[in-house]
Amino acid sequence: MARKLIDVSELQIERRKFEPVLPDILKNGAASVKPVEGKITQSVADQSKIKEIFKNIYGLPEITFKKGTNNAVVEKAVKVAVVLSGGQAPGGHNVIAGLFDGLKIANSKNTLIGYLGGPSGILENKYKVISEKLLCEYRNTGGFDFIQSGRTKIETPEQFCLTKNNLLMSNVDALVVVGGDDSNTNAAMIAEYLKKEKLDKCVVGVPKTIDGDLKNKYIETSFGFDTATKIYSELVGNICRDVNSAQKYWHFVRLMGRSASHIALEVGFKTQPNIVLIGEEILEKKMKIVKIVENIVDVIVKRSQADKNFGVVLVPEGLIEFIPEMKKLISALNDALAENANAVAGINSAAGKKEFICTKLPVELSDLMKSLPSGIASQLMLDRDPHGNVQVSLIETEKLLIEMVHKKLSELKKENKYRGKFSAITHFFGYEGRCGIPSNFDANYTYALGYNAAVLVLNGLTGYLSSVRNLARSPKQWECGGIPLTMMMNIERRHGKEKPVIQKALVNLNGSPFKEFAKNRDKWALSESYISPGPIQYFGPADVTDMTTRTLKYEQSEKNIE
Ligand code: FBP
Repeated sequence: MARKLIDVSELQIERRKFEPVLPDILKNGAASVKPVEGKITQSVADQSKIKEIFKNIYGLPEITFKKGTNNAVVEKAVKVAVVLSGGQAPGGHNVIAGLFDGLKIANSKNTLIGYLGGPSGILENKYKVISEKLLCEYRNTGGFDFIQSGRTKIETPEQFCLTKNNLLMSNVDALVVVGGDDSNTNAAMIAEYLKKEKLDKCVVGVPKTIDGDLKNKYIETSFGFDTATKIYSELVGNICRDVNSAQKYWHFVRLMGRSASHIALEVGFKTQPNIVLIGEEILEKKMKIVKIVENIVDVIVKRSQADKNFGVVLVPEGLIEFIPEMKKLISALNDALAENANAVAGINSAAGKKEFICTKLPVELSDLMKSLPSGIASQLMLDRDPHGNVQVSLIETEKLLIEMVHKKLSELKKENKYRGKFSAITHFFGYEGRCGIPSNFDANYTYALGYNAAVLVLNGLTGYLSSVRNLARSPKQWECGGIPLTMMMNIERRHGKEKPVIQKALVNLNGSPFKEFAKNRDKWALSESYISPGPIQYFGPADVTDMTTRTLKYEQSEKNIE
């Protein structure tokens, strides 16, 4: 029965009719797909430490799918559970749809359950049985609201044991974890634990995150990056048009993305603002905050000399972690906060916490902490997330930059070196893009990732990440398979301790996307080369509806040249 218009938008009603295109290799179902084992693999770094931690799943071979008869995988009915983990990303519901269809087409008796509220749903054994009737409302929609998400990390021996017991109690044969680098690290830990316990249960991951930092040679992009960057680009493009119309403001736009600047770079390509800061470049050049401010001021002064007291600056949210002195401070704070957690929790005021923690830092870092605006200092001390990450989305770096730019411009004014007017407006775009209706690319990609995950678990493969690649081509030509989770791991310091984690892919300064940006940025700085890409298009010419990110395009063309 059609829902009332008050409940769903007209677009959503139309969008239900969208049928994702499956890669040719998957289109006849799991019974016609044969997994082929490649060479055994190694982790990207810290091999002996990772091998020691993952004794049972380390060194698995890479898997590719080829056409072939594989009836064994469809004979026995299985029960699979899916969990959405971490931040929302457009397309999560289509992963569930692809997984559901892949399982049901293989054997109509296969069942899928969805743990509710993220990994905590596994621990509390809260789930819903997924049926076509429930799922059809969510196909091709944004959000994770069908089964919700959460950031609980399964890490204590008790939690692993509870996970095992709950999987056993519900007769779950396989668990599919849809998550970013940290959630997929957790998936690997669960896979290792179940294997150690000699249980015949598979754990497979799916690469999700708007941040675009879960990628490597085999995972070309994480899902959600395409849609989220299109949404931010629409907003930034509109701001660019606005500044050029009113010609009186400087807009500082902070963009989500955690440590990596992929989102800022992609939005930069799509909108061509005056300044795009790239955290990875700042780290590489060991640029102090004063230098970053000087560079911004330089553009502001030059533009003011042409009577252009306006512009747009993109600030990646993770920038703060890459400024050398701030990086040192954050790392020392991570350790000091972990070591003194109870004492800090016992202090009520933000000022008191700051004063206390300063006594635990080396003198130069304590001085730096004291010199920061109180808002920023408090934000740096906020609780780390369950995986030990600083919550950069809560740190208002753009305000710190504006304050420092203001100060510098006032000094220049006194010296008669600047005569312009600086009026700044701030924005933070992050949550606005995470639940958008998935673009055609993300709708197809997520459906294929889910379907591919179904084929992996039906083949009894565990400790793998669902891998769909060749993404610059049309979906029919996409290649499918599985990449061992341990292959992407290294050791990092979290909560003051060394932990295995999937290595984040940062912007590669020698890669084509950054080089392309570096070629153009001086022109963007002084001109108004602004582009207004407009909203995501779901209907119309394929050039507009099916285009994916510039990042992927440049990276793939680079691969083809190699
Ligand atoms: P994931 O890494 O879990 O995909 O989350 C991405 C993200 O949107 C980051 O860009 C952002 O820093 C963070 O989540 C915000 O976290 P929260 O949703 O907990 O506020």
